[in-house]
Amino acid sequence: MKKITSVLLASALLGAALAGCGGNNNKEANTGNNAGNAAEATAAPAADAAKTPKVGVAIYKFDDTFMTGVRNAIQTSAEGIAEVDIVDSQNSQPTQNDKVDLFVTKKYNGMLINPVDRTAAGVIIDKAKAASIPVVFLNREPLPEDMKKWDKVYYVGAKAEESGTMSGQLIVDYWKAHPEADKNKDGVLQYVMLKGEPGHQDAELRTTYSIQAIEDAGIKVEKLAEDTAMWDRVKGQEKMAAFLGSNGDKIEAVLANNDDMALGAIEALKAAGYFTGDKFMPVVGVDATAPAVQALQDGTMLGTVLNDANNQGKAAITVAALLAKGETPTKDNVGFDVTDNQYVWISYKKITKENVAEAK
Ligand code: GAL
Ligand code: CA
Repeated sequence: MKKITSVLLASALLGAALAGCGGNNNKEANTGNNAGNAAEATAAPAADAAKTPKVGVAIYKFDDTFMTGVRNAIQTSAEGIAEVDIVDSQNSQPTQNDKVDLFVTKKYNGMLINPVDRTAAGVIIDKAKAASIPVVFLNREPLPEDMKKWDKVYYVGAKAEESGTMSGQLIVDYWKAHPEADKNKDGVLQYVMLKGEPGHQDAELRTTYSIQAIEDAGIKVEKLAEDTAMWDRVKGQEKMAAFLGSNGDKIEAVLANNDDMALGAIEALKAAGYFTGDKFMPVVGVDATAPAVQALQDGTMLGTVLNDANNQGKAAITVAALLAKGETPTKDNVGFDVTDNQYVWISYKKITKENVAEAK
């Protein structure tokens, strides 16, 4: 009891009261190992985590441009609030589950998980709850029924629908300002879609909402082709080359669920003679990564949507550190709104050449 600081006095008193009433005089041995008693479960790790809590962070894979930005933001924002152990799940859910087991064995005070498969969050929540280790998910949203399994489960991310709508609007603005964009003059926008990983909320909802936004603006659309390029630049290039092979000059716009795939498509378009002379193709992505910002400035990418890696990383580690210390995240201590006691939503923003500075 001598390590207790004033900040933790309330929970420590609660712990002491419980120890007194419940006859639990071996609190150390029970630390983090008693899922049956919620009040004690929160009080015990809080005392352990008194100063700097230890947070285990598992990223779905390190080799992902956007998530590398988030990972760097977690590392930077952790300074002074948490000691982080950031590991690569190598795009394998079994590997990630092993990492979670390791975090539990090491008795970390909190976990921050970017699931490989978002439907596997339930299993991770069960492990976390059994060990009384609060868990924050990010970027890949657990299913609502899994989020309801425990009140020490949070999600930090961005509304996928919003990014879809914004990327569609970028195409709308271009189409309205450039009558020549309707190459075959049929009054219909012929497009191709490069999808992210199937099942990922960002892939599904960006695909649907981007087209919805175009139709909502009164523009008729015709999908020439759609395929997944798994968020990947090289795959984006290959799929775009295939689309060009089968549809040639019929394509009037390219929508990609993220910037890496959009940049891959731009490579394929360049190889087909685009972006020289007046041969142009509107290409939109999502993320506003550094190479995408460069492409906006070069005039090859029409627009993107800022997926705010810095604030997502910052909010995620802040929430994880608070929970790890036994505190309740609120707008005041997180710095971002907390919705339904479990969600922190970071806004997207439309980015074009005109406001490119806002993405830097
Ligand atoms: C998305 C992002 C993609 C990819 C994916 C990974 O939000 O736009 O580029 O990083 O997350 O889950
Ligand atoms: Ca047309």
